[in-house]
Amino acid sequence: MEVDKILFAPEEIRARVRELAAKINAHYVGLGADSVTVVGVLKGAVVFFADLVRELKLGVEFDFVKVSSYVGTESTREPKLTLDLSGSVTHKHVLIVEDILDTGHTLRFLSDNIKTREPLSVQTATLFDKPSRRENGFVADYVGFEIPDLFIVGYGLDCDGEYRQLPFVASLKTK
Ligand code: XMP
Ligand code: MG
Repeated sequence: MEVDKILFAPEEIRARVRELAAKINAHYVGLGADSVTVVGVLKGAVVFFADLVRELKLGVEFDFVKVSSYVGTESTREPKLTLDLSGSVTHKHVLIVEDILDTGHTLRFLSDNIKTREPLSVQTATLFDKPSRRENGFVADYVGFEIPDLFIVGYGLDCDGEYRQLPFVASLKTK
């Protein structure tokens, strides 16, 4: 498969990440928080995570989780944690950072899971969102770009492990 069309250029992504960071900064200033634990969902969110945290104006702790894709048939719809947080988030503000929100099962599962650990607050940021694919009504607190139902790669997003390092986001030629 080959990259088809560039949908988001590096400058456009950079500008939008700054806008999201400004909203996130304002939110935590409003809460009077002086630090936040930013939880990146491996692997796809790594590039967005790295750019976003460098725009945050409060103390940041890094942590990461990995969530399995659905086991077996599509009907299972039950994500599982395959890598857990390295530290406690009890009495901490948590911001979950994801690359793309699709059916909503991953972020619903993760935010519910983290809420059981008595954090001070939990919010979610996703760079991309395909609202037409949602199966559970999940709404992220911060969304970079809404896109139609198409498969995208680059800026962390992959197809079978490929394309993650592209500085832009593109659709794929399917043949
Ligand atoms: P949910 O649970 O919201 O899953 O259905 C979100 C996860 O699905 C993957 N995903 C994509 N990955 N390009 C990708 O590279 C895409 O267009 C795409 N759509 C969904 C991704 O792993 C995300 O974490
Ligand atoms: Mg992902």
